[in-house]
Amino acid sequence: MSTPINMLARSAGRLVTRRVFTPTFRPTTSRAAFMTAQVVRSLEVIHETHIPVTGYSGGERIQECLQVMPEIMVPTVADHQSIARPLNPALIEHLTPTMAKFTLPGKIAVVTGGGRGLGLNMAQALTEVGISGVAILDVQQELGDKAARELSEQTGVDVRFYRVDVRDGNGVREAIQDVVDHYGRIDVLINAAGIADSNIKAETYDHEMFRRLLDINVTGSFLVAQAVGKHMIKLKTGGSIIFIASMSGSIVNYPQEQSCYNASKAAVIQMSKSLAAEWARHNIRVNSISPGYMDTALNRAPTLDAQKRIWVDNTPQKRLGAVDDLNNLAVYLASDGSAFMTGNDCLIDGGYTLW
Ligand SMILES: NC(=O)c1ccc[n+]([C@@H]2O[C@H](COP(=O)([O-])OP(=O)(O)OC[C@H]3O[C@@H](n4cnc5c(N)ncnc54)[C@H](O)[C@@H]3O)[C@@H](O)[C@H]2O)c1
Repeated sequence: MSTPINMLARSAGRLVTRRVFTPTFRPTTSRAAFMTAQVVRSLEVIHETHIPVTGYSGGERIQECLQVMPEIMVPTVADHQSIARPLNPALIEHLTPTMAKFTLPGKIAVVTGGGRGLGLNMAQALTEVGISGVAILDVQQELGDKAARELSEQTGVDVRFYRVDVRDGNGVREAIQDVVDHYGRIDVLINAAGIADSNIKAETYDHEMFRRLLDINVTGSFLVAQAVGKHMIKLKTGGSIIFIASMSGSIVNYPQEQSCYNASKAAVIQMSKSLAAEWARHNIRVNSISPGYMDTALNRAPTLDAQKRIWVDNTPQKRLGAVDDLNNLAVYLASDGSAFMTGNDCLIDGGYTLW
């Protein structure tokens, strides 16, 4: 990191040329995490002056870009991940019409929060159904870079990683413009970037933390959908946008207090429905996935063990969701298999919301 490396420079609102810069490091201050609350290093929006982008083709790193020290927002642990396998293109023509609708040959996807967890697993699923290109947007450089490299190595798909904070409207717009410049189009967006605060009583909820969570989960999701939607409309390609909401948008979790997270996910569900109604005329479908409790790094704090027993006990299937349990639903929503579905919120929770 101490040697000058290539970077993409901003010009006239676009990522255009590569110059050589010496990266500067942002100082960070730490704050203790509690329960499922994220490790918060800064309450400020990160306004990038340059968006690092690293491309992989067939597992080969094809460019190096400026790496500004990321503001670590969540523990840099990765979930166990299975090895992605590419779809043999020769197989596609032998599929029945019904099965063929679940494939995405030649399509391009953007996945936010794809550095790990549910986002990464859904990105992996897309590469297994014939997609040509995936752009991962995540705030964590190391995780995003690793995710892109491994996905590309395993499947041969052209995967790019953009380190961008979804709250940064300019950064998001430039990253999405670069995705369109590189791949020519965007067909699928999975908006999975999000954070959770929990075990915080409403009467003592810190105002800045409250605003920050809404800014990431609601405003950030909107900014990415807006940037992608604009291109889908302009290019007249249509597309499928999938918001990762939560069952917390429909029920109140027990026993932990998490009013802000719950409100944020209710907003995500309603935003998804609103965009579905607005953009149906542009052939853009917008749906949300509302998972129940999932066994991701987000929920792996030892301090959550006692609560997790209650969560499992209150789930008819008596387990947490596996990190890849959303994959097939995501593929369905991304593909023509769900051509007549828009504005729907799909609960996938092991039955938790039944009781
Ligand atoms: N894990 C669960 O039990 C659960 C349940 C319901 C819904 N969800 C939702 O699913 C989504 C993914 O959850 P997960 O469990 O995989 O979490 P995770 O923490 O493992 O992954 C989230 C990813 O989003 C990234 N991210 C966070 N803030 C960002 C920002 N401002 N800009 C860009 N990237 C950012 C993180 O770096 C991380 O890679 C979240 O929206 C979460 O609210 C999770």
